[in-house]
Amino acid sequence: MISLKEGIYWVGAIDWNIRSFHGYVTNRGTTYNAYLIVDKEIALVDTVKESFFPQMLRRIKKLVDPADVDFLVSNHAEPDHSGSIRTFLELAENAELITSEPGAQELRSYYGEDLKCTTIKEKPSISVGKKTLQFIPVPMVHWPDSMVTYIPEDKLLLSNDAFGQHLASSKRFDDEVDQSVLFQEAKTYYANIVMHLWRPIAKALEALKDVKVDMIAPSHGIIWRSKPEKIIDAYTRWVDGASYPKVVIVYDTMWRSTEKIANALFEGIASEGIEVKLHRLANVSNSEVITDVLDAKAVLVGSPTLNNGLFPTVASFLTYMKGLRPQKKYGGFFGSYGWGGGAKREAEAMIKAAGLELVESNLDFKFKPDESELKKAIEYGKKIAKKVATSVSS
Ligand code: FEO
Repeated sequence: MISLKEGIYWVGAIDWNIRSFHGYVTNRGTTYNAYLIVDKEIALVDTVKESFFPQMLRRIKKLVDPADVDFLVSNHAEPDHSGSIRTFLELAENAELITSEPGAQELRSYYGEDLKCTTIKEKPSISVGKKTLQFIPVPMVHWPDSMVTYIPEDKLLLSNDAFGQHLASSKRFDDEVDQSVLFQEAKTYYANIVMHLWRPIAKALEALKDVKVDMIAPSHGIIWRSKPEKIIDAYTRWVDGASYPKVVIVYDTMWRSTEKIANALFEGIASEGIEVKLHRLANVSNSEVITDVLDAKAVLVGSPTLNNGLFPTVASFLTYMKGLRPQKKYGGFFGSYGWGGGAKREAEAMIKAAGLELVESNLDFKFKPDESELKKAIEYGKKIAKKVATSVSS
């Protein structure tokens, strides 16, 4: 039995084995957090992915009879949180399902038009005895329906997707786990899931500014109980597009020509004392690279031309980055080709479409770069390093 505050319990599920969360590589698994508030009345906030229902039910049954649950709050209709709603309501026949207006529509789309919902327009808050559950809409953090539940008596924020991490652990609280792993996973989660939603997140942070928070309990991963302000500070930096002097070089290669250019760029950037990370897409996931991109100031993308266009792994990365739209960054292209070329045109269009400011380059070399061409790459690297050093946002 894991208690957050008096009468408030974690009754979620741990998913040790998930390795892909719609394309985001989740090497450390995840959790689906659900919370039970046991007061004069009983409320369950969120459920778990459908296949994890037995795990949640087992935890609930240790505390109460599910039939006695009075309210089921759905902060977010995505099936990793709503997937057990129908099954749970079969056991808790009298429970009133509360969600946002868009949430009601989305839940009915998923689980049937006959699903009875009370919206937060009708009930912006409920009292369950000594405790109050206040519902605050945070649209697009992560879907149009998203909302958070705040319990003022405990200064507890049940934040759903916001402030989460895909991190399976037998521990539930931030002071019980390795801090570097926790923050790395929080960063990875932000970069891969909500980076492009920085505007709604900034709005949500503003809406929550005056809410006194003693603990933040997200619906994935670890609960922030020791220093919740640390994750709020991190989100405040990320929504602002803060970066530090760092360049990410991301590329793939067929016959090592593009790789030679990547190494020359690395040399040029590093010679200016700027941090630089080199990722070959054959060896790393898009998720890992985009996490590094989050707080970098420039991204240099390298691709050989294959069949008059981008190399497939590079096309995949650029598509991924275009969707996540990192803010306030420079971008550049380098690569190699045999006869016709084509990768440069496609890559530069996608770099721009991802919202990066393109720094013109002339680093698309035929077959294999010679010494003078590699020198050009070193010089371009130095130029990027200088731009990064003088324009870092914080
Ligand atoms: Fe964790 Fe948007 O669902």
